[in-house]
Amino acid sequence: MVCCFGERKSRDTMQKKTKNVVKFGIIGFGRYAERRLVPAFLQAEKAELVAISKRNAAYARRKAHYNIPFSFSNPAELVLHPAVEAVLVCSPPFYHREHALLAARAGKHVMVEKPLAANADEVAEMIQTCQKNRVLFYPAFVMRFAPVIQEMRRIVQSGEIGPLKFVNAHFVLDASLSPRSWLNDPQISCGGPVADLGSHLFDLLMYLTGKPVVGVKRFLQPPYSREQIERNAIINLEFEGGILGSVFVSFDLPRESAIELYGRYGALKVQDFNEPNKTVKLLRTHAEGCARQDISNGYYYTAMLDHFAEVILEGKEPVNSAESGLQNQKILDIIYHSNTGGFETIN
Ligand SMILES: NC(=O)c1ccc[n+]([C@@H]2O[C@H](COP(=O)([O-])OP(=O)(O)OC[C@H]3O[C@@H](n4cnc5c(N)ncnc54)[C@H](OP(=O)(O)O)[C@@H]3O)[C@@H](O)[C@H]2O)c1
Repeated sequence: MVCCFGERKSRDTMQKKTKNVVKFGIIGFGRYAERRLVPAFLQAEKAELVAISKRNAAYARRKAHYNIPFSFSNPAELVLHPAVEAVLVCSPPFYHREHALLAARAGKHVMVEKPLAANADEVAEMIQTCQKNRVLFYPAFVMRFAPVIQEMRRIVQSGEIGPLKFVNAHFVLDASLSPRSWLNDPQISCGGPVADLGSHLFDLLMYLTGKPVVGVKRFLQPPYSREQIERNAIINLEFEGGILGSVFVSFDLPRESAIELYGRYGALKVQDFNEPNKTVKLLRTHAEGCARQDISNGYYYTAMLDHFAEVILEGKEPVNSAESGLQNQKILDIIYHSNTGGFETIN
């Protein structure tokens, strides 16, 4: 069930879950938390939302109308509350480090939204602080949980399309329609569409190929600086084993996304792969012809929350590792902070 503000449905408030669950607090209860995560918590079986924080206390109390028991105006209070076992950091990217460290030092498991931080040093610090405090660090790259992505990965691993040679992805939207006030401020957003949208694509392409990125070349228009974000970008990638990749992102186009994987014996292609609750069409092309498969994407945000709860409760192998999160940020660092502008390798 998906419910939005103003759309009161029968199960539109948090029910106390009696089974083995992990109790979450959200720092930065903004649009994403409200629009995507609240419906996900409503459906989740192993994850329960018990606390939120917003800078304005009265506003936080009002937003807790889903029957979320605790609301705070200070993240430091949220992380110390004994009911909170795991913290989802949903503040703007500049604050991720500060909020993740707060949670880890309070002994709470940490899930961090993308882009994970301002640079790879910050991500490494978050990971080390979590390790030191014996809590889990989980990069919240939710799109891995989309059923169409799971199916593409299964097909690649089955060998059906042969060894991959080239992977191509784009994710574009019209950011002038976004109400996020911080999106155009590089100090708070830590990047433009490459950080906001490209980080998802780097993550998915590493997940689908099963290979880390070892080389990066960037083209940003306009150039990224302390004063302005890029609005359009092409990033060329080389994956371990020689697979080539290309990613295009934009804040200036009508919303659309696509992934194409080209293997020795065939290709997989999908458009709008990240739309929740939609049926997406996966195209398989071979020398003999092509076949179309309809895949229901469901509400995959719930799958990520339940999965992280299982990692905590049952010690399951995480779908997103801390290392892949760090790798993701190293790619962003090269794109935004390297002075060469040419080809750079990752070690
Ligand atoms: N995985 C995905 O698919 C996905 C999708 C969208 C967003 N995200 C990520 O989720 C995070 C939040 O995005 P959002 O769209 O929810 O943003 P948002 O609605 O603008 O803000 C999220 C929270 O940040 C706080 N905030 C806003 N501007 C701030 C500022 N200048 N200084 C300090 N705090 C500020 C707000 O605080 P108050 O509540 O105190 O006002 C709000 O709680 C970002 O990291 C974003 O990249 C992920």
